[in-house]
Amino acid sequence: MAKKKTELSEDKKIPEHVAIIMDGNGRWAKKRFLPRSAGHSAGSRTVEQICDDAWSLGIKYLTVYAFSTENWKRPESEVATLMDLLRKYMKNCLERSRKNNMRVRVIGDITRLDEDLRESIKELTHESSANTGLCFTVALNYGGRDEIVRAVRKILEDRDTGKITAADISEDVISGYLDTSDMPDPDLVIRTSGEIRLSNFLPWQSAYSELYFTDVLWPDFDKKELIKAIEWYNGRDRRYGG
Ligand code: FPP
Repeated sequence: MAKKKTELSEDKKIPEHVAIIMDGNGRWAKKRFLPRSAGHSAGSRTVEQICDDAWSLGIKYLTVYAFSTENWKRPESEVATLMDLLRKYMKNCLERSRKNNMRVRVIGDITRLDEDLRESIKELTHESSANTGLCFTVALNYGGRDEIVRAVRKILEDRDTGKITAADISEDVISGYLDTSDMPDPDLVIRTSGEIRLSNFLPWQSAYSELYFTDVLWPDFDKKELIKAIEWYNGRDRRYGG
């Protein structure tokens, strides 16, 4: 069997922004007769590793879907597990962001999160804001439609105070009101575990993204799989409708 690659050949075009729908933690755990929480813990370790791998391959922006606006519908105990993991993650991430020069941001409506988690997010995003390494974004209580609703509210508030008029509205102006206002759109969106849908992840921003679906479960996704996705991306002909 051919050995899986751990480096990309130099002629490859590297996507500037990769966004990932991390799916399959539950199935990964089930296959091992483990509780779902073990799948989420393994998935969280994969997140840490993939940040390092993405940067080493030359990716500048990495965005991951950690908790959707729909994930509140999961059993209370699973939501609590995910929130605890995120709490731990934010704490560890402060140290890692210092070490790796990584800039960390959160998109989504964080007003619904517990205060201590909101405080950790604030500290982490503030402390890492001047870092010049990987720009890592965690989508937390994020839903693309919810993001657009929040953006429309902000636009209407600005119209009420005379900051903006209907004639000013353009695609760029709308992009500027989204949570992702200061990031490029994703070039490549990856979804693991075999589902072929976007599930409300960056619907505005992914209008021209290449979409890569793999059967690999998120905890098993590694550098070799990321390389495979980038190689696939290199075979795409991006015409942006032209
Ligand atoms: C989908 O797996 C995954 C999630 C709902 C959450 C993703 C969260 C993590 C990877 C861990 C925490 C994140 C960070 C940033 C530290 P699933 O439960 O839907 O799996 P299944 O479809 O196999 O049941």
